[in-house]
Amino acid sequence: ASAAAASRLRVLVTRQLPDKFTASLRRQLQHLEIVTWPSATQPVERKFLLDEAAKIDGLLCLLTDRVDAEFLGRVDPARFRAVSTMSVGVDHIDVAACRAAGVRIGYTPGVLTEGTADLALALLLATARRLPAAVETVRQPGAWGPWCPFDRLCGRGIGGSTVGLVGFGRIGQAVARRLSGFRPGRIVYTGPRPKPELAGPLNAEYVKFEQLLAESDFVVICCPGTPDTRHLFNKEAFKLMRPDSILINVSRGTVVNQSDLHEALSSGGIGAAGLDVTDPEPLPSDSPLLSLPNCVVLPHIGSADVATREAMAQLAVDNLAAGLLGQKMPAELL
Ligand code: DGY
Repeated sequence: ASAAAASRLRVLVTRQLPDKFTASLRRQLQHLEIVTWPSATQPVERKFLLDEAAKIDGLLCLLTDRVDAEFLGRVDPARFRAVSTMSVGVDHIDVAACRAAGVRIGYTPGVLTEGTADLALALLLATARRLPAAVETVRQPGAWGPWCPFDRLCGRGIGGSTVGLVGFGRIGQAVARRLSGFRPGRIVYTGPRPKPELAGPLNAEYVKFEQLLAESDFVVICCPGTPDTRHLFNKEAFKLMRPDSILINVSRGTVVNQSDLHEALSSGGIGAAGLDVTDPEPLPSDSPLLSLPNCVVLPHIGSADVATREAMAQLAVDNLAAGLLGQKMPAELL
């Protein structure tokens, strides 16, 4: 019995997921004990996570859970082998500390690219064409007046405009593919380096960050949230943008300095913003951003279509299983 107990694998899953995913994990790993945080909606309590750390071989976590030096300091180095996050973003994980501890990291690139790019376009159009204000007008008794040629519900279209993509990875490219159907005048992108072989077929042109800000009618943030991109959008950046330009963020809230954004939006520095991500999340309901008519905020729903979320959960399960079996993960952060 003790040999069986010794060979038993134990993993912590930090959110209740549909049964088929835990069943899949069980099929892939024999003698598996799964401890699940018993909520589908609330993140695992920190104390629960830290108390479990010493007793597990692997962790399946979400972007709401911090996997940091404190957590890694609690794990049993002789048994803890893998962290698998159900996200493409890894800013909640101390990657260097994991590497130093020999802990492998799985994540979910690829499967959420199209869903997130869909949402980027939906948010861009909602912000540019003032959909939240239009919906509110219909709902508020008496607010919907006769059809009016020029009023506050007149927005801007994408046709003929310059769209700037900050970040031209999987999601940036998928946004560019969608944009072409809207016939923008130009698509420009920026990032650590030009990617002519990928950009050419999408008619996207590499420019420096400052040039992108100065020339774009729409700026779409699609880069990862890292220490390098933290507060990339600050006072100086907003000063370079056009007074009528529209900023869209589907990356991480940390890429934008929110008080500088508030200043730019309320003083006419830029035209409008559509944010799927904020810092912090949830954004407190008394955040000054929420009282601005030219700011549309969504609760981080970039990947929130059911098929995408299922693909993310399955990939997270497959990564964890491979990590614990010592096999190649389908998507490992290398
Ligand atoms: C991610 O995966 O990092 C997104 O922000 C949520 O899908």
